[in-house]
Amino acid sequence: MALQGHGPLIFYVNGRKIVEKNADPEQMLLSYLRKRLRLTGTKYGCGEGGCGACTVMISTYEPTLKKIRHYSANACLLPICSLYGVAVTTVEGVGSTKTRIHPVQERLAKCHGSQCGFCTPGMVMSIYTLLRNHTEPSSEQMVAALAGNLCRCTGYRPILDACKTFCKESVCCQRKANGKCCLDKEDYLFDEEEKVSIRLFSTDEFQPLDPTQELIFPPELMRMAENQPKRTLIFHGERMTWISPVSLDELLDLKAAHPKAPLVIGNTSVGPEMKSKGVFHPIVIAPARIPDLNVVKNTDDGLTLGAACSLSLVKDILANVISEFPEEKTKVFCAVLHQLRTLGGEQIRNVASLGGNIMSRKSTSDLNPVLAASNCMLNLASRGRKRQIPLSDIFADGVGNNAVAPEEILVSVHIPHSRKGEHVSAFRQAPRRENALSITNAGMRVLFEEDTDIIKDLSIFYGGAVSTTVCAKQTCQALIRRHWNEQMLDEACRLVLKEIALLGSASGEKVDYKKTLIVSFFYRFFLEVLQSLKTMDPGHCSGIPMEYRSVLQDFKTKMPQSIQIFQDIEPSQSPQDPVGRPIMHQSGIKHATGEAVYIDDLPSVDGELFLAVVTSSRAHAKIVSIDTSEALKGPGVFDIITAYDVPATNEFYYSDDPEIIFARNKVICVGQIVCAVVADSNVHAKQAAAEVKIEYEVLKPVILTIEEAIKHNSFYEPKRKLEQGNVDQAFETVENIIEGEISIGGQEHFYLETQSVLAVPRGEDKEMDVYVSTQHPAIIQEMVAASLGVPSNRIMCHVKRVGGAFGGKLLKAGLLASVAAVAANKTSRAVRLILSREDDMLITGGRHPFIGKYKVGFMNDGRIRAVDAKYYINGGCTPDESVLVGEVSLLKMDNAYKIPNLRCCAYACKTNLPSNTAFRGFGFPQSALVTETWITEVADKTGLPPEKIREINMYKENEQTHFKQKLDPQNLIRCWNECMEKSAYYTRKTAVNEFNKQNYWKKRGIAIVPMKFPFGLGTRYLSQAAALVHIYTDGSVLLTHGGIEMGQGIHTKMIQVASRELNIPMSRIHFCETSTTTVPNACASVGSAGTDVNGMAVKDACQTLLKRLQPIISKNPKGTWNDWIKEAFEQSVSLSATGYFRGYNENMDWEKGEGQPFTYFLYGAACSEVEINCLTGDHKNLRTDVVMDIGCSINPAVDIGQIEGAFVQGIGLYTMEELKYTPDGTLYTRGPDQYKIPAVCDIPEQFSVSLLSSSQNPYAIYASKGLGEAGFFLGCSVFFALRDAITGVRNERGLKKTFALNSPLTAEQIRAGCADEFTEMMTNDASASSTPRAVSVRVTNQSAQDLNGMKN
Ligand SMILES: Cc1cc2nc3c(=O)[nH]c(=O)nc-3n(C[C@H](O)[C@H](O)[C@H](O)COP(=O)(O)OP(=O)(O)OC[C@H]3O[C@@H](n4cnc5c(N)ncnc54)[C@H](O)[C@@H]3O)c2cc1C
Ligand code: FES
Ligand code: FES
Repeated sequence: MALQGHGPLIFYVNGRKIVEKNADPEQMLLSYLRKRLRLTGTKYGCGEGGCGACTVMISTYEPTLKKIRHYSANACLLPICSLYGVAVTTVEGVGSTKTRIHPVQERLAKCHGSQCGFCTPGMVMSIYTLLRNHTEPSSEQMVAALAGNLCRCTGYRPILDACKTFCKESVCCQRKANGKCCLDKEDYLFDEEEKVSIRLFSTDEFQPLDPTQELIFPPELMRMAENQPKRTLIFHGERMTWISPVSLDELLDLKAAHPKAPLVIGNTSVGPEMKSKGVFHPIVIAPARIPDLNVVKNTDDGLTLGAACSLSLVKDILANVISEFPEEKTKVFCAVLHQLRTLGGEQIRNVASLGGNIMSRKSTSDLNPVLAASNCMLNLASRGRKRQIPLSDIFADGVGNNAVAPEEILVSVHIPHSRKGEHVSAFRQAPRRENALSITNAGMRVLFEEDTDIIKDLSIFYGGAVSTTVCAKQTCQALIRRHWNEQMLDEACRLVLKEIALLGSASGEKVDYKKTLIVSFFYRFFLEVLQSLKTMDPGHCSGIPMEYRSVLQDFKTKMPQSIQIFQDIEPSQSPQDPVGRPIMHQSGIKHATGEAVYIDDLPSVDGELFLAVVTSSRAHAKIVSIDTSEALKGPGVFDIITAYDVPATNEFYYSDDPEIIFARNKVICVGQIVCAVVADSNVHAKQAAAEVKIEYEVLKPVILTIEEAIKHNSFYEPKRKLEQGNVDQAFETVENIIEGEISIGGQEHFYLETQSVLAVPRGEDKEMDVYVSTQHPAIIQEMVAASLGVPSNRIMCHVKRVGGAFGGKLLKAGLLASVAAVAANKTSRAVRLILSREDDMLITGGRHPFIGKYKVGFMNDGRIRAVDAKYYINGGCTPDESVLVGEVSLLKMDNAYKIPNLRCCAYACKTNLPSNTAFRGFGFPQSALVTETWITEVADKTGLPPEKIREINMYKENEQTHFKQKLDPQNLIRCWNECMEKSAYYTRKTAVNEFNKQNYWKKRGIAIVPMKFPFGLGTRYLSQAAALVHIYTDGSVLLTHGGIEMGQGIHTKMIQVASRELNIPMSRIHFCETSTTTVPNACASVGSAGTDVNGMAVKDACQTLLKRLQPIISKNPKGTWNDWIKEAFEQSVSLSATGYFRGYNENMDWEKGEGQPFTYFLYGAACSEVEINCLTGDHKNLRTDVVMDIGCSINPAVDIGQIEGAFVQGIGLYTMEELKYTPDGTLYTRGPDQYKIPAVCDIPEQFSVSLLSSSQNPYAIYASKGLGEAGFFLGCSVFFALRDAITGVRNERGLKKTFALNSPLTAEQIRAGCADEFTEMMTNDASASSTPRAVSVRVTNQSAQDLNGMKN
């Protein structure tokens, strides 16, 4: 068949017609919007459908129904060729500051729903699309709409607050704080006595939602759909051809001619494969427009659905049918619907097709097991042949790849009605409840002989367990004619385990867990069926015990209820003075309109080149050769940059071992940058990078884990130790001693904006502008200058804002900036380097994996007398800040407790992993978790409750830390007591116990954890800061300082400071950018110190200016600001001033183990309650109450946002985020599909944050406290609540009291902790592997290749 192109691609974007004559099938809508149309509001976060940053709204018109359909979709997976005749709406089309801001944008910003703002356009689009379809959605619809959107900063609460304002249910907080609910008073709410407020925004300001204001569907597209006959569309790209036929016959001809060409509908399976697995298809066939593939037919015996039907459509159809048909007939529909509710996010379900899900035959398909078990039929067609086969046939061979011929296509799927006496269920367990592929799933069906419990037919299918969907055929056959009773259950578990275990290899990931799920799911099915047998025939079947019933209910995501309590400002404060008020983020509106500019949004520079890095695939090896010949031949390739192109410094010695730009002779980790390709486009650079061939000679040893580092004595120096009291003697006098160990996994920063650089040579004097997403412009300048061999005064580093950093954009950003700068220097062109999510995760390292070993001596009454601990952190292949992280972990290890005799050592291990680096909390989240672990174990051992052990050992009066720094713990105790009270801890603990008595398979747990968070950077020079303030003759003020805006609202706070000091409204003050040209040598924005130190500098600058203006003001006190400025100018008074803060007087003498490394302490406490499902390990965060002492908040909205965001990141570290490496040291979890950060479904259903009132801090600006990091650790209250729940299970079952749990406490560990007859089967099962090793670096047993094969 001749494949001729057929005219241009026509679609609309934001009401504008796009006629694309050169549509490239390889181009996704995201890059088209961003690069071609210059609509940069739609963001790149992952490129694989997992984060939602690229969400857009697609509108289509269906001429036969005369209906317009709006749906959200991920632009990163939408081929532009699939957009013929559709209208695309991006965030720019929703509203802008130039025209009109949309209520969604306004409310998201004003409810403080944006921090770094990178996820915000995606959030706007998901909410906006929902509102286009439902002007008053339910809160259930709202949370579902956001399931596919990730935010790493906010913790989602403020985003959901904005959402609630559109929902039909009440906006009420649903909680009574101090006896009050947010609706108790209409006006400004505060408690008279405590002068607290609970209102962070005012709904009165909001514009109403007016659907008539929305963009209309383009009439031209309607006319096109109605009048133009559909014709085949063919688009030829550089390498690929796209054919979209309109009839089935045509499709079958095409498939016969190109049997290998995939049918692409949603591209959610083919797209990610092409992107990350290097699969390439020269021809793709897009059959979405063929009517036969879109059929929806209700037949006598079921429902026939076209293969191209989207999963959302299938979901809606099933929901409708279920409401119309008798229950007896809809069991299959209900089970399929159950899976669809949590399958992907809405953006995925809106485009992913039923046929695609089935035919891609991924082991993790949630639909195939249930469809196969339910006897669904596939209607297949090929040229001249149509046939129907049971869906189960495609898995009959156990590998899922025969049964359908390559030239055959799936036309439709028939889902049958269930019959009388038939029961169908589906199950899934994923690392995150929503938008995550299943670890294991299942579909089960049983049919009983009429009016009996005798099995007539049984069908069980599993997914995720092995490499495809599998049927437990022999088990099912063996159980025919058996009664549905305990004996059958025992037999079934034994058989199914044997059968499925045999199908899979005994290696692989989470083997025991998967097997446990296999039997647990069957047990759950057993209970469900038993219960429904009782409903049908109460006389004969007794059903299941009352306490078993709750396990039949899955956890559901509800709209969380939250409350935030903060101190109100003094009534005497001037209304213009913004300090202490919940002011919206200065960029909030721009975040929400997509106008906020990040590095990759900067317009292209003339002649700009794109850079792609080539990284090492070996953990430790000599580079034998680098063959770039093929790569250089690639289209658009300009050059290849290696270490030999670095004009000066390639290795930076900040300590004994270097930080390296390009590997020169050897590589020391997988992911190390070896060279880089520069080309005329990102795509060309990436394609060529894949062609660079590097030959290695493997070097020994390869050290990946802490254990291996210890074995090889591989450490960074110095090792650190702190000691107080007489530890050895104390151990001799104590009544009890425990010894233990906990391993804490690493954590990926997962900032939504990946590492990004634009290096622009200025063309003279070796000057270069570098625009970098960094939290430390000065180090960028220093490293770039050193690598190019030019003085720092030639390098101008600019940072407008950063799309999240969390510690990950310091040295690593410096190395990447140097890579780009070297390339720019060599080519004399601007060079843009935007890391893909995959490369970012592979290359940059994260939080240090950690092992804490401890020996604790204590008395029977719970007093801890002695602790001897050793901390090992996995530093990776270069030192970065690992030694410092070790030091901080020692200094903060006491958390809230006075331990009279204490010894602790920290070792930074040198390994062949990518170098780990700073991450929010900097060692404290790990070391304090170790502390809280031994506290809990002491409780176990003494039989006292953990909160008692905490209270007994807590700092109580003016005391000294273990390094002899004084502290006054009064506010620690206040936070603890207030948290106890606000959470109603004891009442709820009783309720938890009661719940646990009444529920066998579900248990609750509760825990309260205190926190002392020392503030300081250890030495004075690291906390110096400067500011520069200009007043222009029109009275406007330009402010700058050395701090970086990365979501924490520093610029907003600095403008608040300047506004107070200059006594002018915030609107007169502007912040443009942080730059090395305005504030030199600025310290990094780290360690919660940004506002503290820069605030002092801003204040200083403003006071200098005010002092200069004072004589003029005194002379004309009634004059206006503008009068004074005009006069000052005329009197030749300088209207520009710098401000400076010398830094805090901090020091630490490690020889003596004494010092004042901190300036002050923050305190806090958090109480969390959880519920676990003992059969699956799933859990739900029910409620969290946080009380924090942050002094006097400069901006309660920003500060509470920091606490909540950090807390939710903490939940991530402690309960879900798992980094996994293959045995050769390759990071396997390189995107949101594999690495799960918390999503909307993970935040507590009730979430309250209270700021401690009447707290003063004499050391920081306006008595505030720096709090960016502190809230993170409190996330561990969820860890300990989970531990409490597991303890409840174990106590009830008479299991060993002390048990080791590691972090993250994932579903797998929870399930293993809840030992029962099913986990027992694993121990007895000869084919079971050992429980996965709880090591600090999780090494999977599979090769990277195998794992990639299993990925979907
Ligand atoms: C972020 C994300 C999350 C996800 N989460 C889940 C999840 O939780 N659970 C789950 O089950 N799945 C999940 N998926 C997978 C998703 O459901 C499937 O990728 C999707 O259903 C495939 O449909 P598609 O139209 O996008 O397929 P495409 O990518 O367009 O095509 C898929 C494959 O199926 C073949 N094919 C498609 N239609 C036909 C046909 N009519 N006849 C013959 N062959 C055909 C194609 O040739 C191709 O090989 C997720 C995917 C992503 C990207
Ligand atoms: S960039 Fe598209 S979903 Fe992440
Ligand atoms: S505000 Fe959501 S990722 Fe930063």
